[in-house]
Amino acid sequence: MLVGVGAKARVALIRSSLAELGRLAETAGAVVVAETTQALARLHPGTLIGEGKIAEIAGTCASLRAGTVIFDMELSPAQQKNLEKALPRIKIVDRTRLILDIFARRARTSEGRLQVELAQLSYMLPRLTGAWREFSQQVGGIGTRGPGERKLEYERRHISRRVAHLERDLERVRASRRLRRERRAGVPVPQIALVGYTNVGKSTLLNRLAGGEAAYADDKLFATLDPTARRVRLPEGGWAVATDTVGFIQRLPTTLIAAFRSTLEEVEAADVLVVVGDASSPEFERQRASVDETLRALDTADLPRVEVLNKADRLTPEERADLARRRPDAVLISAETGEGVAAALSRVEEALSRRWLKRELDLPHEKAALAARLYESAQVLGRHAHGSRTRYQLRVTPENWTRLQALAAEC
Ligand code: GTP
Repeated sequence: MLVGVGAKARVALIRSSLAELGRLAETAGAVVVAETTQALARLHPGTLIGEGKIAEIAGTCASLRAGTVIFDMELSPAQQKNLEKALPRIKIVDRTRLILDIFARRARTSEGRLQVELAQLSYMLPRLTGAWREFSQQVGGIGTRGPGERKLEYERRHISRRVAHLERDLERVRASRRLRRERRAGVPVPQIALVGYTNVGKSTLLNRLAGGEAAYADDKLFATLDPTARRVRLPEGGWAVATDTVGFIQRLPTTLIAAFRSTLEEVEAADVLVVVGDASSPEFERQRASVDETLRALDTADLPRVEVLNKADRLTPEERADLARRRPDAVLISAETGEGVAAALSRVEEALSRRWLKRELDLPHEKAALAARLYESAQVLGRHAHGSRTRYQLRVTPENWTRLQALAAEC
């Protein structure tokens, strides 16, 4: 059973957030049998929701045989405990815990797994403290340290050690990733980052762009937790590298933001952002707004963007016309059928050309050493010999172009 709670003035938000919670719950393997919302002028500090609501939930759970109640908020350790008391034999889960479960299932790379475990431990630590403190108060008296307290201290120390260990490991993994990126930065290839709300079809689109090479696409949310990079052939020749990022969600608990960091770093390092939306979703506008909000929080204001509206195959002609009016700059595509994907890629190339210039350079044949430098600092799209010289068509950043021109002038 799902429970949505929020301020009275924001009933629409409570509902849409609850719809998202439902999809998240299904992703985690749950079957949702009932849901309820409560809009309050003031949240009850002890239990979040009122006594009447708790009674209603108990009744619904009993009649529908629901064993778990998922709250669409992060519960404090005390609230969690009070709710467990008020709803005996029912498992109480909050939004953060649910998302953590999904992350834990989906983490694939070592960095993803480390980040998820770190987030899980930070979530557990205060809750563990609460439970054991109560136990120790029952067993040990004032001024004594009961077995509970000792056990608590042991667990806490154990967890802290594990956290320190994980942070060290993470730092190591990050350092090696930075190295990889630096090396990649030396290679003259434009970077494309696919961003968007979860389940909009980013992985499917990446597959299309990369030409069908196998990657993981799944109907469940969060098919991608770690950045995956693929090679994409650009229409006018040459290559770009496209990365898929983890799907955004509307209200990401702050404790989980670190688990997204690697993906976010990839976004900041991109030359162009492809913002993917699911045009067939009733939540489309809200999802787009939440993606924009996340992007604003990142250092991405200067990056050119291409907006693509996916799942066009599900739209009626009227819906297509309506979208074209509302979002004239967006490209309507279907990653599944391939419709519009070529047009989207041309837009990407156009956006890339702001930073990746197309230039020609003429070199005498005997300057073989300089030609080698060319291949290291630019993408050679084509070349042809004329007389004693070769003309190279290049895709190159302004910095490298200045350098190459200077070298060529010495010839
Ligand atoms: P996360 O990794 O969870 O963020 O999801 P994602 O954005 O990568 O989505 P993914 O590519 O996994 O696609 C989600 C679901 O949408 C899958 O069931 C796809 O088959 C489906 N899908 C993707 N593109 C299209 C499309 O153009 N049309 C239709 N009808 N379905 C699509």
